[in-house]
Amino acid sequence: MARSTGARITQPPPRRAAIIAGLRTPFVRAGTDFAQLDVLELARSVTVELMQHSGLAPSDVDHVIYGNVTRPVRYSNLARELVLAAGLPKTTPADTVTLACASACQAITDGTNLIERGYADVVIVGGVEMLSNVPITLSPPLARTLVAASQARSFGARLQTLARPSLGLADLVPVAPSITETSTGLSMGQSAELMAKLNGISRADQDAWAFSSHQKAAAAWADGRLAAEVAPVYVVNDGGCAVVRDNHIRADTSLEKLGALRPVFDRQYGTVTAGNSSPLTDGAATVLLMSTEKAAALGLTAKALVRSYAYSAVDPAGQLLIGPAYAIPKALARAGIDLTDIDLVEMHEAFAAQVLSTLQKLASPEFAERELGRSKAVGSLDPGIINSRGGSIALGHPFGATGARCVLTLANEMELQSAQVGLVSVCAAGGVGAAIVLERV
Ligand SMILES: CC(C)(COP(=O)(O)OP(=O)(O)OC[C@H]1O[C@@H](n2cnc3c(N)ncnc32)[C@H](O)[C@@H]1OP(=O)(O)O)[C@@H](O)C(=O)NCCC(=O)NCCS
Repeated sequence: MARSTGARITQPPPRRAAIIAGLRTPFVRAGTDFAQLDVLELARSVTVELMQHSGLAPSDVDHVIYGNVTRPVRYSNLARELVLAAGLPKTTPADTVTLACASACQAITDGTNLIERGYADVVIVGGVEMLSNVPITLSPPLARTLVAASQARSFGARLQTLARPSLGLADLVPVAPSITETSTGLSMGQSAELMAKLNGISRADQDAWAFSSHQKAAAAWADGRLAAEVAPVYVVNDGGCAVVRDNHIRADTSLEKLGALRPVFDRQYGTVTAGNSSPLTDGAATVLLMSTEKAAALGLTAKALVRSYAYSAVDPAGQLLIGPAYAIPKALARAGIDLTDIDLVEMHEAFAAQVLSTLQKLASPEFAERELGRSKAVGSLDPGIINSRGGSIALGHPFGATGARCVLTLANEMELQSAQVGLVSVCAAGGVGAAIVLERV
């Protein structure tokens, strides 16, 4: 594939982080196949499978970094529990990272930093989300009352504390985590709706993108590409079963069916529907990162190396999910390449409106000049090189795992196609954007 001259050639660091292997669980709609499972079990299951597939000795693992967003109350550091549950040496340090939908990107780039600095040779990275079992908490007044009651010295004093008249009925209602921006009060879907309106993204274009996502995902299951990156999960409750496939992909959807769905987030004038949004999903993905020296010593072949990465953030009150339009040019510049050098892209599809808005901004000379201080547009991406195995709209989007799923799929597809340079981008709550450049050398 043709390579153009890069804008600024940045030499890669002397030590390189390689993607050696990875696996993910099936991604399933929240409340379905994994509803009985604990989040740790989901992460453990795929990590143990990966260790067995890779043939790596547990003692070779230097560090574990795992992404998770809806943090379970009982695990203050899920990654460390993963070490203990997966049978890795008890002496393996581990940390849990959260960066909304880009949490696993953060895990991967943190792992890359450890390797490039020479602080680690083997890092297990990834992420998990279990939206079937989100931590439900108590309202602050009820929580304070219960804590005070637990500290009371006698049964009578405890009853008296509990009977405090200050608690209203509303205080007794459990509080579930929401996918709403704290600073704006808008949900992700409402923000996507706003982006569709501001950027003039049509309903037909959103539906066409969603349709293509399902078609590509169905094709990638049919030809075995997705089966090769998905490990079964064994659910032992209710008689037990093996969950082996994603369950949101609709091979039989059509533009007509998509076009008939009602908008969800702006019922009257909206264009964002259940069909062109990513669904609430359970799933986990684990990736084996290794220094190239260690891989060579173990006789392992890298699928791809991490070349560069970048994060960005925008005002959540503006276009909440446009972060990748800022992170992508930053990551490209750090790699010393242009968008035209990119052979394959994995772009997280929170909503079709968000993907199409990002592509529009990348191709816009006005955006480049006004927002990036560049004399020309970042560039136009050919949709044919984006999300070869389908994207989050079809596959699903377990928040904490999606970044690892994107990196894993990109590395696999780059290996399959002998592609030289690939790009991952993920938008995230808080107005954050993440971009990671992979290369094969
Ligand atoms: C959009 C959302 C509210 C839809 O939830 P939902 O109503 O449970 O969605 P469903 O899957 O039940 O779909 C609703 C209907 O659309 C239909 N549908 C959905 N996708 C379809 C498709 N591709 N083709 C045909 N029909 C489809 C379903 O069959 C269902 O029909 P029914 O009501 O007749 O059963 C939910 O998925 C959501 O909140 N997504 C956004 C998640 C998010 O914010 N993520 C953060 C990103 S940063």
